[in-house]
Amino acid sequence: MRCNILLISIPGYLCESINNNRKMKQKGKNSKFGIVAFLILAGIALFASCEKYTYLIETVNPVDSVHFQTEIQPIFTANCIVCHKGTRNPDLREGNSYTSLTTGDFVNLPAESSRLYVKITSSSHESFSLPVEKQKILIWIQQGAQDN
Ligand code: HEC
Repeated sequence: MRCNILLISIPGYLCESINNNRKMKQKGKNSKFGIVAFLILAGIALFASCEKYTYLIETVNPVDSVHFQTEIQPIFTANCIVCHKGTRNPDLREGNSYTSLTTGDFVNLPAESSRLYVKITSSSHESFSLPVEKQKILIWIQQGAQDN
């Protein structure tokens, strides 16, 4: 009788422990798979966001002339006149901005070190205009800051 119980319980125990072991191994594999899947998904997400970013960058052909009235003033009107509406120098409102910029010594060559360009790329003003708008302003100054 005792022997019987022993004979039944030993294989039973063995079987159970092997099963447990398998389950554990299975679990281990699953979690590794989870990590790999996560890394792949994260990689895809990162790659996709990079791609989106590169598509968004707009550039200006520096050979094309940039027109003050139709391209530069709209940038000021949309982004700057909330603050630069007369009392704060330069006055960037339509009709006043060109005189204000040229007589106030804001648009000298080299364009990169003009007060206007230095300001729009400085930390206090960086966020007020897009990269493409900064580039337009830079090219407009390089082309002689004309009232065109
Ligand atoms: C939230 C308000 C605000 C906005 C929007 C703003 N500015 Fe200004 N700006 C200021 C203040 C305040 C000063 C004076 C203090 C300083 O120089 O940062 C100033 C100064 C300047 C100066 C003078 C720099 C100098 O050398 O004296 C220029 C040029 C200028 N801003 C251009 C711009 C342009 C171009 C835009 C739009 C793309 C713009 N600002 C948008 C607040 C603003």
